Amino acid sequence: MSDQPQLRLGVNIDHVATVRNARGGAYPDPLRAAKIAEEAGADGITAHLREDRRHISDADIEGLAEVLSVPLNFEMAATDEMQAIALRHKPHAVCIVPEKREERTTEGGLEVAREENRLAHFIAPLREAGCRVSIFIAADRPQIEAAHRIGAQVIELHTGAYCDAHAEGRFDDRDAELERLREMAALGHELGLEVHAGHGLTYDTVKPIAAFPELRELNIGHFLIGEAIFRGLQPAIAEMRRLMDEARA
Ligand code: PXP
Repeated sequence: MSDQPQLRLGVNIDHVATVRNARGGAYPDPLRAAKIAEEAGADGITAHLREDRRHISDADIEGLAEVLSVPLNFEMAATDEMQAIALRHKPHAVCIVPEKREERTTEGGLEVAREENRLAHFIAPLREAGCRVSIFIAADRPQIEAAHRIGAQVIELHTGAYCDAHAEGRFDDRDAELERLREMAALGHELGLEVHAGHGLTYDTVKPIAAFPELRELNIGHFLIGEAIFRGLQPAIAEMRRLMDEARA
């Protein structure tokens, strides 16, 4: 057995809602997916209530807050509207992400260094309400140091550039990104931040990241929901859990 703390798996269910919303109506139901994810070994459920409500809806967040037995990680932009919703539900964790209407997914990390004052004021009431505040950022020293200064308890490192480089066969870039993520995970940990990671992770890319000893949580969504089409949601998640544990052993 390894003496490293177990790496938690947060399953992001946004894209169950994407499929539902493609037709309107009630299915597939993200709440049902969340319960199956719990049974399959998810340590938490992640959902991003976007400003344009393109996938997760307000009613989904209400439902998740009621039915989950594992912690809810509520992803949101740093807007007054989202802050009010978070303060109403007081989820276990709030992850602040950048959001642009025209993007297909969360493309980069949050610009914390340039917005320190505003973000410090923005997260203070969330912390006071008892939410663990996480900031989704690039693996970049100034951003990590700024996240620390504003009082975030957690940083989530954006793994998108690493995963894209792998998918496109740019293996030198991939390895450089991996190295950057490794160094920045260590920096976050040294500063006393809890370090998470996520975005774009697949069975092929998860293990080198999961092996970082400083990491406490991975948040994975799109690939798992896609894989569920072929093998079912429970086996898709169980396989990710197995690979994470193997990398950690
Ligand atoms: N972590 C954060 C902060 C995200 O915004 C997302 C995407 O919504 C994820 C993790 C999961 O990314 P993916 O769906 O690509 O696995």
